[in-house]
Amino acid sequence: MCPWMIWGSKIEALQFRNQFRMLPESLARSSLDFQGMKLPGTVHTAESINYAWKELKVFDDDVFNVTYPKSGTTWIQEILSLIYSNGDPTPVKTEFSWDRVPWIEQHAHKAKIESLTSPRLLTTHLPLKFFPQNFHKSKAKVIYTIRNPKDVCVSLYYFCKIAQFMEFREDFQEFVARFLSKDEVYSGWFEHVKGWLTLKGQPNILFLSYEAMLKNPRENIVNICKFLGKDLDDAAIDSVVTNSSFKAMKENGKSNYSAVPKFIFNQDEVSFYRKGIAGDHKNHFTPALDEEFDKTYHELMKDVDLTFT
Ligand code: A3P
Repeated sequence: MCPWMIWGSKIEALQFRNQFRMLPESLARSSLDFQGMKLPGTVHTAESINYAWKELKVFDDDVFNVTYPKSGTTWIQEILSLIYSNGDPTPVKTEFSWDRVPWIEQHAHKAKIESLTSPRLLTTHLPLKFFPQNFHKSKAKVIYTIRNPKDVCVSLYYFCKIAQFMEFREDFQEFVARFLSKDEVYSGWFEHVKGWLTLKGQPNILFLSYEAMLKNPRENIVNICKFLGKDLDDAAIDSVVTNSSFKAMKENGKSNYSAVPKFIFNQDEVSFYRKGIAGDHKNHFTPALDEEFDKTYHELMKDVDLTFT
């Protein structure tokens, strides 16, 4: 490698050291075990989970974007940023998504969270049992987005390829087996969704469907505004819809992770904004794998009222 390329990658690494507290030598595809929950190790510590769970102060005007990974997290981050700027795209074009709507459980974000001004927009993949305890004493709001787990599984497969801090199994069948087990990150999709659904009916939590968002983004954005008590005019709503479209986000350097160095996110083969569709699992699951997935789904979700289009 040419010397200036080595220096380039060192400078890049140092710039992101502050952002993600990561350097090539500290990056590993390994998991942290937090009370039986597996998490990508490089970005979390037991201390950072405890901070989010037990210490985070929660204000009444906080808004939490909660998802199981690959269910539309970045999409909601963009929508929330745009709603709170009344449709002005400046913030989404000038500030990184992870700074606008940071993850509360990642150790690199604590300082950022503590410097945010209210109303704070926050993101988390935490299951309900490790969600900030102070939330339950507040009037803060949660938006929880659910996506067809087979598509989540496919999307996670490619994400694990991109993100150099995620454990990865190249063999898709093996990957699916882990997804169906309790070993999957953040307590696994099934426990995550079931846990959060126990709050259904509570006035400060809105459940969204990724597939419904795809079908009718405007209607869902209007619904989110109503839930948040944000009164945007038609032009502002149009701007939220346009600037949070798959195409706009894929092209937005502040939301597409293109600024993240390759040693953390390698998008050479697959883009973070991969397809953004419903039903891609049909291109990946064999009939046998599909049957196995359905069997586990029906066992684990038998008491849950949930359908996917
Ligand atoms: P695919 O990998 O299926 O394409 P998360 O943000 O939770 O990590 O989820 C990422 C998934 O959401 C990816 O799915 C990505 O393409 C999709 N996505 C992100 N922004 C989107 C948008 N504006 N519209 C539709 N899908 C979007």
